[in-house]
Order: sequence, then C-alpha cells, then structure tokens
Amino acid sequence: MSRKLKNILVTGGAGFIGSNFINYLFGLSATGSKEFMDSGFEGRIVNVDCLTYAGNLENLAMVEEKFGKGVLEGERRYFFEKVDICDRAEIERIFRQYDIDTVIHFAAESHVDRSILGPEAFIRTNVMGTFTLLDVARNYWGCSLGNQRDDVLFHHISTDEVYGSLGETGYFTETTPYDPRSPYSSSKASSDHIVMAYYHTYGLPITLSNCTNNYGPYQFPEKLLPLMISNIRDGKNLPVYGEGKNIRDWIYVEDHNRAVWQIVNSGRAGEKYNIGGENEWQNIKLLHKVIELASPKVGRTADEVEKTIVHVKDRPGHDARYAIDCSKIKKELGWERRMTFEQGLQLTVNWYLEHQEWVDHILSGEYKNWISANYGDRK
Ligand code: NAD
Ligand code: DAU
Repeated sequence: MSRKLKNILVTGGAGFIGSNFINYLFGLSATGSKEFMDSGFEGRIVNVDCLTYAGNLENLAMVEEKFGKGVLEGERRYFFEKVDICDRAEIERIFRQYDIDTVIHFAAESHVDRSILGPEAFIRTNVMGTFTLLDVARNYWGCSLGNQRDDVLFHHISTDEVYGSLGETGYFTETTPYDPRSPYSSSKASSDHIVMAYYHTYGLPITLSNCTNNYGPYQFPEKLLPLMISNIRDGKNLPVYGEGKNIRDWIYVEDHNRAVWQIVNSGRAGEKYNIGGENEWQNIKLLHKVIELASPKVGRTADEVEKTIVHVKDRPGHDARYAIDCSKIKKELGWERRMTFEQGLQLTVNWYLEHQEWVDHILSGEYKNWISANYGDRK
C-alpha cells in the first residue's frame, strides 16, 4: 500500500464525529483520553464544512491554535474552508490549491427526525454533495479503469441505517442487502451506491464504512444522549419515543474514528467495512442508566428524575433494532475497541455536565427557535 495521506480533505470536520476525528489525527482528545492520541499522522488537513446548524468551530479551537492560524504559515498543518460540498467550483479549487490526495467524507445531514420534517436538504447534501466530491476527485486524480491508482483514496463514512431494521435476532453484515426506511437512511444508501459505482465504473479507489450509533463529546444536543443529559441538568421532561423498546448499538466516537483511520491506512480499495459497538441497548434501559449516572451530579435523586420521563408520539417508521457484525474489520485490520461502555458513558455524562457553556451556546441560537417551532415544549 503506498497511499500518500499527506494532504487530507476532511468534509464535515466541524460536526460531531468529524471534529473528534480531526482532534484525534492531531493527537488531541476532547476528554484527554491517552488511548486516543496515537494516530501517528504527520500530514495536513483541510477541513471543508459549510457550518450548518450542526457545525461548530469551537470543537476545533485547540487544533486551530496548535496547527492552524496559531502557528507560522510555513508550519501550518490545519486549514479551514467554509465551503458547501455541493459547490463544484469551490471543491475543484480546494483540490488544486492543497493538492488533495485523500478524502475522508463525513459531511452530511445526519438527524433522522429532521429528515422526516424536511427531506430536501438530505437529498441535496448527502446525494448531490457526495456525487460532487467523487466526481471532482476522479477528475483531479485522473482515475479510470485503465489508470487505477493506489496512492490516493476516497473514504466515505456511512451508517448501519442503510441496512434497514432488524427483528429480535441477527446482525447486519457487509453483504446484508440495503433496505433504508427514512429519508436520511435512503439518502445515505444512495450515496453509498454512488461511491461503489465510482469504484466499479471509473476505478476511483474508495473505501466505505457503515457504523452504529456514536456517543461522546461534541454531539449536537438534538440526538438522544446529549439531549437527555442536558434535559436532566435543566429539570426538563425526557421525551421517549413510543414505549422506548427500540434498540441501538452504541460505540464511543473515538473508537469509530480509530477504525476509520485504520481503514484509510490499510483497508482494501473497493471494500466496505462495518464498525460497531457490540453493545445493544433498549432506549428506555439506556435512559435509566444515564439517569443513574447524571442525577447525583446535578444534585437530584434518580427517583426524582425518573418521574420526568414522558412517552411521546413515536417517530414515523421508527426502525426497531440495529446491530452490527464487525468481525471483518477485526479480522482483516486488527481493529478493537478501546473504550468500555461503562467508562465511555460516564466520561460522556461528565463532559456534557462540565461543558454547560458549549451546550448552552447551541441551545440559545437558531436551534432554540427551530425546536420550539417543531416540537413546542415536548423537547
Ligand atoms: P453532524 O450533523 O454532527 O455533522 C455534520 C457536519 O457536516 C456539520 O459540521 C455540518 O456543518 C456539515 N455539513 C452539512 N452539510 C454540509 C454541506 N452541504 N457542505 C459542507 N458541510 C456540510 O453529523 P455526525 O453525527 O458527525 O455524522 C458524520 C457522518 O457520520 C455522517 O455522514 C453520518 O451519516 C455518519 N454517521 C453518523 C453516526 C452517528 O451516530 N452520529 C453513525 C454512523 C454514521
Ligand atoms: O445508527 C447510526 C445513526 O445513529 C446515524 O446514522 C445517525 O446520523 C444518528 O443520528 C443516529 O440515528 P438515530 O436515529 O438512531 O439517533 P437518535 O439519537 O436520533 O435516536 C436514538 C434512539 O432514541 C432512536 O431509537 C430514537 C430515540 N429517541 C431519540 C430522540 C432524539 C427518543 O426516544 N427520544 C428522542 O428525543
């Protein structure tokens, strides 16, 4: 394998997983966890993010100071470009300007509930945006079936939701047929197919990963865990969709990012890899656990907080269960998780409670109006 990994274009690097990824590559970790500081990366990162409601440059303040604007021009290894991935001319300019040799594509509209309320942005960014990046990469790298390069790579980040919904047993493997149910998951499934088509048709070297639910610092507090933690802090209701029996498989965000980095370094071109936590929780049981960990830290008893759980109208088409078989990446690349769920959940609860200003900043902005327009006082 002779991948350059010198000038990496990371898309969506101001979001939850992308910002943790950039921190990880530069040897930084939001929670200071030593086991997530060993990427060994020596090149440059160009972070392309158009800063939707979900993008937050505060997550990258340390990176900017140590590797970006905070250092002498010639020593800079981090560059931020506020650009929409659908803007072809700007993406072409960035490939040329930084001589991009690797793309790690996180940018997406990522929240299932929002995709139900307004699918258009999901189709635009997740489908058209991914297409634009692939097409610019193919042209810039001059790839074709007759010119298959092994020094460049396009890695696409995707989700287990493309596989649909499981019953009580079984796991999604890399060969499970796609069966997406929501506008979000169908837009991600479309993008996965286009990525594969660029490999088979144009010889673009790609890898693809499908991951389960991530948790950890910097997640936008519309998603289950940060929403529940901040509502516990504020004494607000804890809205559980339906009976709360849906099952998700949870992985610590830095373990996901280590897997991505291993694939980018040594994954085989044209292959997809499932990444999972092997850690299934019914939503309601997970909430009980979060209440147990968070209540003492906010000076309330767990019994008191339990009374604020409200069962609200279910998400339309709510997938029952996700669970990933990740034996391929374990066997082929030797990847293993480093964070136990007990440790990771406690770290996460502590992080949100200790970074109230980070949460409050988000909750006080554009999001506040959006949530009250769409949910009233239900969230
Ligand atoms: P996020 O919503 O927190 O961040 C998305 C980022 O993309 C934001 O910074 C946003 O500003 C940026 N973005 C959105 N549209 C853009 C556009 N048109 N141009 C440029 N930038 C744009 O998302 P996340 O949870 O960090 O997810 C990152 C990726 O991982 C997504 O592709 C998602 O589908 C995938 N994924 C997420 C999870 C999870 O549990 N969160 C699990 C598996 C896969
Ligand atoms: O599985 C991977 C996916 O995980 C990613 O592809 C998505 O980008 C990411 O958002 C996440 O999707 P989910 O829909 O599983 O995550 P969310 O946090 O929105 O919801 C988790 C579960 O909790 C789900 O069953 C719905 C439920 N839920 C969620 C919210 C926000 C509630 O019961 N109440 C809530 O208020």
